[in-house]
Amino acid sequence: MSDEPSSASLWHGRFKGGPSDELMAYTQSLSFDKRLWADDIAGSVAHVAGLAHAGIISAAEQAAIVAALTKVADEIGSESFNFRAGDEDIHTAIERRVTELAGPPGAKLHTGRSRNDQSATDLRLWLKRELPAVAGCILELQEVLLTRAESAGDTYLPGYTHLQRAQPVLLAHHLLAHGWALSRDIERILDAMVRIDVSPLGAGALAGSSLPLDPDFVAGELGFATRFENSLDAVGSRDHVAEALFALTLTGINLSRIGEEFVMWTSEEFGFAALDDGYATGSSMLPQKKNPDIAELARGKAGRLIGNLTGFLATMKGLPLSYNRDYQEDKEPLFDAVDQITLALGAVRGMIATATWNSERMQAAADSEVNSATDLAEWMVQRGVPFREAHAHVGQLIRSCLAGDGSLRALVAADPLLGSDAAALVAPGVAVQRRTTPGGGGPAAVAVQMERFRARLVLLRAAVAGLLR
Ligand code: ARG
Repeated sequence: MSDEPSSASLWHGRFKGGPSDELMAYTQSLSFDKRLWADDIAGSVAHVAGLAHAGIISAAEQAAIVAALTKVADEIGSESFNFRAGDEDIHTAIERRVTELAGPPGAKLHTGRSRNDQSATDLRLWLKRELPAVAGCILELQEVLLTRAESAGDTYLPGYTHLQRAQPVLLAHHLLAHGWALSRDIERILDAMVRIDVSPLGAGALAGSSLPLDPDFVAGELGFATRFENSLDAVGSRDHVAEALFALTLTGINLSRIGEEFVMWTSEEFGFAALDDGYATGSSMLPQKKNPDIAELARGKAGRLIGNLTGFLATMKGLPLSYNRDYQEDKEPLFDAVDQITLALGAVRGMIATATWNSERMQAAADSEVNSATDLAEWMVQRGVPFREAHAHVGQLIRSCLAGDGSLRALVAADPLLGSDAAALVAPGVAVQRRTTPGGGGPAAVAVQMERFRARLVLLRAAVAGLLR
């Protein structure tokens, strides 16, 4: 048995005996929902204002409870709060302490409220603060990608499909590709925010209240855009948590793809990039090693994020309306996802900001003669040859080149359908110049794209700043 008297539990009236130690150990959430303390205090201040607004408590009682809540906030903030064995969760702990501090008015704090609408409110308030902060970290990574794209100039590298060299593209184009994907990650967060920004406070345990409470009033006090439409749904849904987890997981997956490329690019085999010492690790045994551990963990931790998402989806599956204790399992995966993605964004940002490029290696890989094959075929198309025929004709030249019949340039120059004008296309650095269509990988198109990317960042920054207000 817990060393607390049985009257310590929130339900002591109905129960003769107190909670067992095993029950407390298994069902407690204080160890992780402590993190919601500031949101819990904010929710309680609003709820108490609602009680006063409805005439359920007096102004003096409201003042006494708010003073106690303020003291509790000071105590928790300064880490002098004394958590007790009977404090099952942060809501219980705070209410217990308020009652100790405020006396009889404290016992009115929980009027018309349940921990079901309370914990749902807390987590939504937390998400409203933390998700925009993650979006801010994504923006910082995008800034670095943009800066590195701007300073990459005309450096080009092979663009790949199937991880086989395909056509050369500017390094800036490659970096901005990741930048655009991250833009969509921010847009997903912004979109999820619309569904997060709904107050569940006033739903009570599940069905509202017989007291004249006003959910619109408390929603306004807490700065929510709107209130719940249905009390069962308010306490009995967590799709917004799943959505947040999905947005974070997809960001993690995008970082894992960047990570994988840096693992490859910094390998001796590729040699496209080198990491700054501050963003690489050494080996405890092999003195020559310089390892891309940030990139590898960006790749590896995506698995953990996927686990957080799929684990929570499994928790939600099949749950009947409305609140079920299963929902307590929403917090740990969400907190972990936010923590991990925040760390990853900072580390990857620093890694990219400080990496050095080896443009000779990149360009040498891109300048392999056969990478101009499509340009040769398109050159023929511009002279009236159907593309399928041009493709086959150039394909045959590539085959004889690879069989050792001569350089592609020489074979093209000697070819009656191609000749020396076409052979000029095979020269190093020519193919990338010819990727001219909007959104394409050559210098003119990338200059336009970069301008559009800058403009997109301005919009996203404003939207994220609007959420952080
Ligand atoms: N700690 C719980 C949660 O996170 C809130 C408690 C609600 N408990 C209850 N028995 N209704 O969801």
